[in-house]
Amino acid sequence: MIFAANFKTNHTRATTKAYIEALNEKLFTKRVQDSVYIFPPSTALDHYKGNFTLGVQNAYMTRNGAYTGEIGLEQLEEFSIKTILVGHSERREILGEKQEFITEKFSYFKEHGFEIIYCIGEPLEIREQGDEAVIEYLLAQFEGIDTSYEKLIVAYEPIWAIGTGRSATTEEIENTHAALKKTIQKPLLYGGSVKPENIKEITNIRGVDGVLVGSASLDVESFSKMVLI
Ligand code: 13P
Repeated sequence: MIFAANFKTNHTRATTKAYIEALNEKLFTKRVQDSVYIFPPSTALDHYKGNFTLGVQNAYMTRNGAYTGEIGLEQLEEFSIKTILVGHSERREILGEKQEFITEKFSYFKEHGFEIIYCIGEPLEIREQGDEAVIEYLLAQFEGIDTSYEKLIVAYEPIWAIGTGRSATTEEIENTHAALKKTIQKPLLYGGSVKPENIKEITNIRGVDGVLVGSASLDVESFSKMVLI
């Protein structure tokens, strides 16, 4: 199983350091076949040691240059970061990233050999139209994406389940993952209100290869409890 923590715009450099120290103690008993990823805010990237992979939530497709507010390869290489989230719904919806832009970003980081966690997810109005509409919507988010890329991990995160406390049902997750796996044979994570109370149920669903956790990953006790289920 893959357990990924996306801190979003939470935690500072100081609290991330304390988090990772606490996590390392707890992960001592982690199963060898499980892997853990931590995506702190960019200001907290550093040389951390431990039984996890440190990734970046976002970066711009450049080595360096005049892109105010962005970071590029040069800033990632300083900390040997080789893992990135691309296509998260918050970047699509709030930051206005369109599929064409996301595709360019994906290709750039693919060319540079990054492991990419590529996020897809449908809004509530699409979910309400039923399974067929959901799959059509999700597959459209792969437009321009090389789904055969060997370092690709996909994360299915229904937008209506993110940060709402309302996870998708077991049936919704199972059906959606099964349908996606017909087209994309890559590790597939579920994200959206994953928490200690539902981690067992979710990781037991056929076709779920791991989880991408936001809110419930912010507390190290809560996140490590999920990793050690
Ligand atoms: P929540 O776990 O807070 O619902 O967030 C999920 C998410 O967006 C992870 O990337």
